Amino acid sequence: MAKTLVSLVTGAASGLGKATVDRLVSEGYKVIMCDLATSSGKSVADSIGPNVKFVPTDVRSEADVQNAVDVCHELHGKLNLIVNCAGISVARKTYNFNKGSAHELQEFSNLMMVNVVGTFNVLRLAVGLMGKNEIDENGERGVIVNTSGFAAFDGQMGQVALSACHGAINSMTLPLARDMASQKIRHCTIAPGLFDTPLTQFLPDKVKSYFADMTPLPKRMGQPEEFANLVVSVVNNPFLNGEVIRLDGALRFI
Ligand SMILES: NC(=O)c1ccc[n+]([C@@H]2O[C@H](COP(=O)([O-])OP(=O)(O)OC[C@H]3O[C@@H](n4cnc5c(N)ncnc54)[C@H](O)[C@@H]3O)[C@@H](O)[C@H]2O)c1
Repeated sequence: MAKTLVSLVTGAASGLGKATVDRLVSEGYKVIMCDLATSSGKSVADSIGPNVKFVPTDVRSEADVQNAVDVCHELHGKLNLIVNCAGISVARKTYNFNKGSAHELQEFSNLMMVNVVGTFNVLRLAVGLMGKNEIDENGERGVIVNTSGFAAFDGQMGQVALSACHGAINSMTLPLARDMASQKIRHCTIAPGLFDTPLTQFLPDKVKSYFADMTPLPKRMGQPEEFANLVVSVVNNPFLNGEVIRLDGALRFI
């Protein structure tokens, strides 16, 4: 009988995280869904069924994340895959010369706290459980997938904070893979281009069409299921490690 695999997914109530949960459940995983208590995580989990458990979690909180790991341990006794998708966005220039106002420091540090510190907080507290797994037929104990974004490479005007956090997540990729290698845990980062999720819903249709047209092939925004597809590909390819993978239809901003 095939062994049940267990995943912990953050940002699981929406967008890339939710699509990942759906895909992992269809692959036979049990999933611990982590998202804010104020998110739609509970109703999403109820609609998916008994293979998922929603654990209200703010990724910035040590107590919340430790609780989610403890729930995972109590329910399943193990953890095979961590997927970090929790994140927020901000679009603000460094200085507004018309209004004479600087980028709010709080807005910058908030973004770093959720996207960068939150990502690190989750994996630092969850890998201990993963490290207790038996080594599998691929010679590994588990896999971690983090999410950064295109702003790490092609940051646009107004993306100084977003570029800083996506760049930080990319830069963590290799040292994390090296830190985990002796325990047989792999780590990759996916850097999405523009995806059609609630995060990008604020964009006017004409802006979405413009971006779609700029994308060499296919000429559209990414679908969350395509992100989930790559998560599964990373898991299924034991030679992928320490790598940042762009997923963007070759979209490049100048
Ligand atoms: N959608 C895109 O075009 C795009 C592009 C590049 C990068 N990304 C990155 O991908 C990640 C996921 O984006 P998405 O499009 O799925 O966004 P989304 O808004 O659809 O989902 C993000 C989820 O994260 C949760 N979240 C926010 N703060 C949290 C916190 N402190 N603790 C726990 N959960 C929290 C939200 O409640 C939400 O459910 C983000 O980090 C984003 O920066 C997205």
